[in-house]
Amino acid sequence: MPTTNTINTPAYLLEQAKRRLTPTLNNMPGLGTVEKRLRQHDFKQFVLAEPPAGSGLKPVMGDSGVPILGHMIETFRAGPEYLLEVYRKFGPVHYAYSPALPSVAALGPDATQAVFSNRNKDFSQKGWDPVIGPFFNRGLMMLDFDEHMFHRRIMQEAFTRSRLTGYVGHIDRVASAVIANDWVENDARFLFYPAVKELTLDIASVVFMGHEPGTDKELVTKVNDAFTMTTRAGGAIIRTGVPPFKWWRGLQARKVLDQYFEERVKEKRNSDSTDMLTVLCHTADEDGNTFSDQDIVNHMIFLMMAAHDTSTSTLTTMAYHLAANPEWQERCREESERIGDGPLDIEALDKLETYDLVINECLRMVTPLPFNVRSTVRDTDLLGHFIPAGTNVVTWPSINHHLPELWTDPEKFDPARFAEPRNEHKRHRYAFAPFGGGAHKCIGMVFGQLEIKTVMHRLLRKYRLEPPYPGYRAKLDYAGMPVPMDGMPVILRPL
Ligand code: HEM
Repeated sequence: MPTTNTINTPAYLLEQAKRRLTPTLNNMPGLGTVEKRLRQHDFKQFVLAEPPAGSGLKPVMGDSGVPILGHMIETFRAGPEYLLEVYRKFGPVHYAYSPALPSVAALGPDATQAVFSNRNKDFSQKGWDPVIGPFFNRGLMMLDFDEHMFHRRIMQEAFTRSRLTGYVGHIDRVASAVIANDWVENDARFLFYPAVKELTLDIASVVFMGHEPGTDKELVTKVNDAFTMTTRAGGAIIRTGVPPFKWWRGLQARKVLDQYFEERVKEKRNSDSTDMLTVLCHTADEDGNTFSDQDIVNHMIFLMMAAHDTSTSTLTTMAYHLAANPEWQERCREESERIGDGPLDIEALDKLETYDLVINECLRMVTPLPFNVRSTVRDTDLLGHFIPAGTNVVTWPSINHHLPELWTDPEKFDPARFAEPRNEHKRHRYAFAPFGGGAHKCIGMVFGQLEIKTVMHRLLRKYRLEPPYPGYRAKLDYAGMPVPMDGMPVILRPL
C-alpha cells in the first residue's frame, strides 16, 4: 500500500529529491542572512486609518515590509518566533501590508480573547477566503453567525460519544495494520512525517469516505491526490487560477472532489455504515433540520482537510519529542501496557492520561494551526485601537504558547506543566488555544485527540522511538502548517 515510506524505492528517493530541490523561501541559499537582516530592520511606520474624531481610539500603526513580498520571508521562515518579536516591538495590535494577505496582527492572549469571543459579532470568517476560500468553499469554518450555528448544530450530531466510538474502531484497524506491516525498522533514513501523513490519509479513506481498508485503490488514490492538491494550493505564492500554477491545480482538484462526493452521497443516503460520510447523510439537529446533498459535499471536503494536516503535524511533533525524551516515552508506554493489545475503544483511550499531557505539550510547542484569520464586518475597536470595516485580522495563539509571562521556561519540553498543581495553561483564558475558541472552536477536537492516541499507542506498543542521531534538531517550514523540512527521521527499534 504505502509508497513513500519504504526506503530505497524510487518513490522514496523521488520524494527526498523533491524535498531538497524544490525552491522555497526556506531552502533558498542566502535567505537565512536576508531573514536575519529583515528582522533587525526598522521599517517606516504609517497609520492604517485615522480613528473617528472623539472616539478616544488609537490608530493602528503598521508597515509594508519589502516590496512584493511584504513580511513573507520572516513569517514563512520563522513563523511564531517572528510574530513574537513583532509583539514585543509594537504591542498587541500591528498592521502588515502584504500582497497575499494585508492584515492586522492581533497578538497576545488579550487580543486572542477579544477576537475569538467576538462579543459584538465584529469579526467574520470571510478573512479565510483569500487564504483557502476557493478550495474549501462553504465548509463549516467558512460560514458566519446564524448560518454557521444552523450548520454546526446539525454537524454536532456527527461528533457525539457514540459516533466517536464508531470512528475509533475504524481508525484502530487501519493504524494497527499499517504500523505492523509497512514501517521500516532500525533505519535512520525512515522519515516519520511522510509515513504518518500517508497513514492519516489511509485512515481518512476509511473513517471519512467509508472505503474498506485496501479496497477501491485507484479511486481512493485519485481522491487522496486531489485532496492533497487542494490543501497545498492555499500556500501558493502565485495566487491565480491560471494553468499550470498551484492555485489552478487546486481548483481542478476541488472539481474532482466535488464530483466524487456528489456520487458517494447518493450511495450513502441509504447506508447504515458508521463512517463520517454516512453519518452526515443522517444527522439532524433537535428540530429535525438535516444537510442537503450539496452541504454534505462541502462539509466533507472541509472536514477531511481540517482533520488531516493537523493530526499529522501533532503526531510528528509527538514522535520527535518522545524520541528525544525517553523518560516521557516510557511513561506513555507503561500506560499503554496497562490497556494492552486488544481492540481499542474510547474507555481504554481515556485511561491514557500521560498521553493527554504530552499531546498538549506538543500542541503548545508546535501549534498545527499557528494563526486564525478573520475580517471586520464593521468599524471595530480592538483593545482600544481603531480598525476599519473590511480589514483582515489575524490572531496568533501560537505566540501565546511561548510567552515566558505565561509559561515556565517555554522552550523546554515539559508536559507536567499541564498537570496539577502547575496548571500553567490556566494562567490566562487564552494562554492555550490550539483548537481556537468561541463559536468556531474546533468541532473535531476529541476526534483528533482519539486518533492521535490510537496511532501513538499502537506505535509505542511495537517500537522504541529514537532520534536519528544524538542531539538531532528538527527545522520547521512555516509556509503553511508547520512541517519538518527534512521529513523528520526517527529510528523505530522493535521492542
Ligand atoms: C490536532 C488536531 C486539530 C487541531 C490542532 C485543530 C485546530 C482547529 C482550530 C484552531 C480551529 C478554529 C479555526 C478558526 O477559528 O478559524 C478548528 C476548527 C475546525 N476543526 Fe479542527 N483541529 C484539529 C482536528 C480536527 C479534526 C480531527 C476535525 C474533524 C474530524 C476538525 C474539524 C474542524 C472543523 C469542522 C472546524 C470548524 C469549526 C467551526 O467553524 O465551527 N479538526 N480546528
